[in-house]
Amino acid sequence: MGKVGWQSPSNIALIKYWGKFGVQLPKNPSLSFGLSDAYSQISIQYSSKHSEKAEHKFLFEGNENHAFGDKIIRFLNELDTIFPFLKQLDLQIESKNSFPHSAGIASSASSMSALALCLCSIEKELIGSLQKENNFYQKASYIARLGSGSASRSVYGGYSIWGEFSELKQSSNDFAIPFNSEIHLLFMQIRDSILIVSDQEKTVSSRAGHALMNGHPYAEARILQSKKNLKKLITALKVGDANSFIEIVENEALSLHALMLSSNPWYSLLLPNTLKILEKIREFRNKSKLFICFTLDAGPNVHLLYLEENKSQILEFIDKELVEFCFEGKIIHDKIGFGPKRII
Ligand code: DP6
Repeated sequence: MGKVGWQSPSNIALIKYWGKFGVQLPKNPSLSFGLSDAYSQISIQYSSKHSEKAEHKFLFEGNENHAFGDKIIRFLNELDTIFPFLKQLDLQIESKNSFPHSAGIASSASSMSALALCLCSIEKELIGSLQKENNFYQKASYIARLGSGSASRSVYGGYSIWGEFSELKQSSNDFAIPFNSEIHLLFMQIRDSILIVSDQEKTVSSRAGHALMNGHPYAEARILQSKKNLKKLITALKVGDANSFIEIVENEALSLHALMLSSNPWYSLLLPNTLKILEKIREFRNKSKLFICFTLDAGPNVHLLYLEENKSQILEFIDKELVEFCFEGKIIHDKIGFGPKRII
């Protein structure tokens, strides 16, 4: 009998993962930073099974939540060969998020990474493997990826990269790697205020969006673009080049949505207020000359990126010019975080 628990953050991609092949392998490399205050906490209580078939129970915020619970249980069944001990254990899994479900923040990256870290901790405790920190996090990233691609990047704090990239020997399609050692200090104080334009479930899931990249007329060009952008962004992150950062990050966000618009069938997750916010950000940047830009997830909400040192001016700008376009004035203020932590 034992219990493990991990807290793991959500992350925001600057170079977007869009399109996959095989078993959850990315068509292009991506880069993100982990958040601080938007996280999931998962605990797993385990004991030797009591009956023929191991019993795996899942509670979300104290309740049996079927949609998400079923997804987790199915995922655990798929991990039978990677963690053979799962067949021998009864599990009681409990999960909660620091952000409300209605916040429009995707919880798959934080919850799948927290779950993966818990499973690796159980392996470490029961089998005695994964003693080396490197191996532990690499396997956690690998497992998280199988649950949700972007979750692979959440097991590390700060910046991380997932997907093969010829200029980075250690990079891999199988797991993400941390990317912090050469980051300019400017980008270690980055903040992300999430402007909630809509709190509704999205009409087209990421899974369906990724699938539409198969046979997409711009697929090949997109893969090349992501690699060029990644190369330029890595340089910008190292030398502290704010202008290149802004150009690349906004180009990635808009390209993601352009790919949705040019899919067959086409769709759009942008709302009129999303576009109004983007225009306001550009106007304010031109006027103020401050470091401020946006990125977008696969949804209508805007991630406003800026520096800690300009926080008061940016909050004033949000208050005066952006909050009116947010659903019920909802905004979640977050910043770069330092990764998951073990809580039990
Ligand atoms: C637009 O990781 O949610 O946020 O692998 O199907 O679970 P699955 O997809 P998911 O896709 C995220 C797409 C994105 C870009 C990114 O985070 O890189």
